[in-house]
Amino acid sequence: MVQERIMELRRALNHHNYKYYVENSPEISDFEFDRMMRELQDLEAAHPEYADPNSPTVRVGSDITADFASVEHRFPMLSLSNTYSIDELREFVERVEREVGETEFVCELKFDGTAISLTYEDGRLMQAATRGDGERGDDVTANARTIRSIPLELRGDDYPRLFEIRGEILMPYASFDRLNAEREQNGEPLFANPRNAAAGTLKQQQSSIVAKRGLDCTLYQLAGESLPYESHWESMEHARKWGFKISDKMRICRSMQEIEEFINYWDTGRKALPFPTDGVVIKVNRYSDQRALGFTAKAPRWAVAYKFKAEQALTKLLSVDFQVGRTGAITPVANLEPVQLAGTTVKRATLHNAEQIAQLDIRVGDMVYVEKSGEIIPKITGVEHSQRERDIRPFEFIDKCPVCGTPLVRYEGEVKSYCPNQSHCRPQILGRIIHFIRRKAMDIDGLGAETVELLFERGLIRDIADLYDLKAADLAKLPRLGDKSADNIVRSIDASRKVPFNRVLFGLGIRFVGETTAKYLAEHFRSMDAVMQATPEELMESEEVGEKIADSIADYFADESNRTIIERLRKAGLQFEAEERESVSDTLAGRNIVVSGTFREHSRDRLKELIEAHGGKVQSGVAANTDFIIAGDKMGPTKLQKAKKLGIRLVSEEEFIGMIGGDSGSAPTSATAAKSAASTERTAADAATKKTPEQGSLF
Ligand code: IVH
Repeated sequence: MVQERIMELRRALNHHNYKYYVENSPEISDFEFDRMMRELQDLEAAHPEYADPNSPTVRVGSDITADFASVEHRFPMLSLSNTYSIDELREFVERVEREVGETEFVCELKFDGTAISLTYEDGRLMQAATRGDGERGDDVTANARTIRSIPLELRGDDYPRLFEIRGEILMPYASFDRLNAEREQNGEPLFANPRNAAAGTLKQQQSSIVAKRGLDCTLYQLAGESLPYESHWESMEHARKWGFKISDKMRICRSMQEIEEFINYWDTGRKALPFPTDGVVIKVNRYSDQRALGFTAKAPRWAVAYKFKAEQALTKLLSVDFQVGRTGAITPVANLEPVQLAGTTVKRATLHNAEQIAQLDIRVGDMVYVEKSGEIIPKITGVEHSQRERDIRPFEFIDKCPVCGTPLVRYEGEVKSYCPNQSHCRPQILGRIIHFIRRKAMDIDGLGAETVELLFERGLIRDIADLYDLKAADLAKLPRLGDKSADNIVRSIDASRKVPFNRVLFGLGIRFVGETTAKYLAEHFRSMDAVMQATPEELMESEEVGEKIADSIADYFADESNRTIIERLRKAGLQFEAEERESVSDTLAGRNIVVSGTFREHSRDRLKELIEAHGGKVQSGVAANTDFIIAGDKMGPTKLQKAKKLGIRLVSEEEFIGMIGGDSGSAPTSATAAKSAASTERTAADAATKKTPEQGSLF
């Protein structure tokens, strides 16, 4: 009885899910859908014996932190040759026709997301893997299951028993805008574009977060052993019937003219699409022709991507604001007459620096070109001089801070101007506090940029050390904050006293000291006092620290007000010392070791941990004093060359583990151990079945 009801609910939810997310034509209300989902969740919770990894309830994800196993692709995931030129595209068409005679092409959109390969067995989703290096990718199945347009179970019954289908995970503009707005509110760094956001989300460690981000998935290639179809078009028609989201913006073209028509249509038409695209992919349709054309080492010879030029828009420059960052850096920001560009309305654009403005001779009142090329904020790339009104004045860059009026300075070798009034210039003070509470720094939850501003306005905080004097009662008095959130904030501030030293160092916001540099500094000097007392020369002994960074650190600690803040943070009980290193043996004492490439059994970080646990030193680059290199697959070519030149020994992962007597003594996490065991099995099995494209077995 219960089992039947569970089956019935799963079938119904899969059906309605498909109607809603693939066909965009829901048959029932959201309310009814949620009711059924809740009923199924309750039944599954009460009857774990009927659990199923492909139940529609997995769509909400889980908050278990996942490590991604590396999996080998049954068929390599190749890339496409790209071109921006119609002439080169014509050459491609001519070459194909020369080799296989008159043929058909399928034109389709080039989706701008991140590639995915889905494996189905007996109609059920078994695995989802990222492209990785084309040979091996990350197993992101748990995350993919939360993406509503990916079918967990296929419809119909004429699908191959085992096949892979490839496509793109996309983040629609609407999801992207919502996500970034939320991140801005929380003081988190923004995603530069929907592509990065899609890729970043797919690699999230908690599938429940993925479930909330509104990803979508479009499929565009079927791969499998001896598929019973004659052409790409035919396979896509079938895949659509099985419940996959296959683009309907595809066309069979029989001539260069038809291909050009498709391109010209979508060069403009794509601007109205709800998700990003960056070109058109042209594929030879018939599988027999594809086989005849074959592959180069990297890409099929039967397909090519024609990329659209970055979208540009022409609009009027109304005025220029000057923003002051947390380090005092001045960034000019253009206010524009609102204009549509790549799916969003653009009102502001960056102008970078004074030199660039002078170089382009940009003036307020000019008609300017704005372009989006990967950054969050579009940039101005040129001026339409032919439309300049006669008497507009050349642009003058400011020489005083727009906020506090302090004369600006230029540091040697830097194009930016800076406001040097670190202690009293409002945006710098606020910026430093917001940076300090960031997730990657002190991770103080519940305090966003707005609350920080409010606390500052009320005189409750002037610097980062003041956070540790805040009382719940002070916070609860603020508008929009109740007792509960006030308590949360205080608790979270309290918890930050345990945040490791490297993140405290990063949180200080010293100019040029990013997350990685802070880690190296903490690793090398081990304590705040040691960093503070180090001379610039000594600082440069730490990895990644050059003269510029060393000077900036020394300047920071030379400042009396910074030293006062540091002393208050010390009294507040923050971590000023690096955690004890795990120490297992001194087998590698005095050895300098480089880790390079990708590994089967251990992550690179784990290998580095092991080196240190056995007394060795991890080096980031190959040097004359390097003792040996633990070399995995795809080792960096520069490292390899240097190693050869210096005659440095390459050691395999297995050899290294042998040297230290196995990695069991140093207590790997159970997840790592399980992953290693699983990946050994998989590697052996996959090696036997794996095909190369040259064997022509893609279909
Ligand atoms: S076919 C063997 N079709 O572009 C090549 N790829 O630059 C199989 N892409 O890695 C890919 N839209 O992530 C194909 N309609 C489309 C595509 C598409 C986007 C991506 C894909 C691929 C990359 C190559």
